[in-house]
Amino acid sequence: MNIILLGPPGAGKGTQARRLEEERGMSQLSTGDMLRAARSSGTEMGKRVAEVMDRGELVTDEIVIGLIEERLDADGTAGFIFDGFPRTLAQADALAALLEKKGESLDAVIEMQVDDDALIQRITARSTCANCGEVYNDQTKPIPEDGKCANCGSTEFTRRADDNEESLKQRLLEYYKKTSPLIGYYHAKGQLTRVDGLGEIDAVAAEIKKVLDA
Ligand code: AP5
Repeated sequence: MNIILLGPPGAGKGTQARRLEEERGMSQLSTGDMLRAARSSGTEMGKRVAEVMDRGELVTDEIVIGLIEERLDADGTAGFIFDGFPRTLAQADALAALLEKKGESLDAVIEMQVDDDALIQRITARSTCANCGEVYNDQTKPIPEDGKCANCGSTEFTRRADDNEESLKQRLLEYYKKTSPLIGYYHAKGQLTRVDGLGEIDAVAAEIKKVLDA
């Protein structure tokens, strides 16, 4: 099964993708994580990518499609969870072509709906385990009291450079301008299901489960 988690920054795509990996043996393909790995590699490409990400703008279609193509070729899996990809109509068309080439298809597109005020609160309170990538939130999912990641025991946590109000404003603009047209695109193809992303993490996971089991 191959699915897309679609939604604005902070909607909970990464949080739910990690749960689906654990529960269903699927593979999360997060272009955000791939680009953060590229930026920390210190290459010229990584430096260019870092500047674009910190401004809250989208990286070029060519770069992200290339990253996804590499991973689709390499991974054998029970299915892919596309998290943060596609983000433009060109990326959506490229994904359809890549899946077709592999003899696979897209089974569902889940739009996670969350209002802007909640997104700002979530993003500015987010931290991530530096070792395993587990995502925490000062308010809704705090780091355990012993200061250790509940998943891997690491005591190092990071905050993303683009998790500030200024970058977030730009990220939301990019989402509404370039990514939200995908909602109509996948609706017209009969592949879109909306879930309320404002509920608690377990409640959202239950909604997604219902969609995937249907
Ligand atoms: P990316 O890393 O994809 O970031 P994003 O889309 O902005 O999404 P986030 O990771 O911020 O949010 P999320 O929906 O995963 O939420 P999370 O689960 O962490 O992209 C970063 C940048 O890379 C882009 O701006 C762009 O520059 C570039 N890029 C990436 N892909 C690209 C592409 N395809 N094309 C071009 N450029 C690309 O949750 C957020 C917080 O809320 C956490 O603290 C979490 O604990 C909490 N939370 C989650 N669910 C709930 C809940 N139900 N209730 C309460 N709190 C919750």
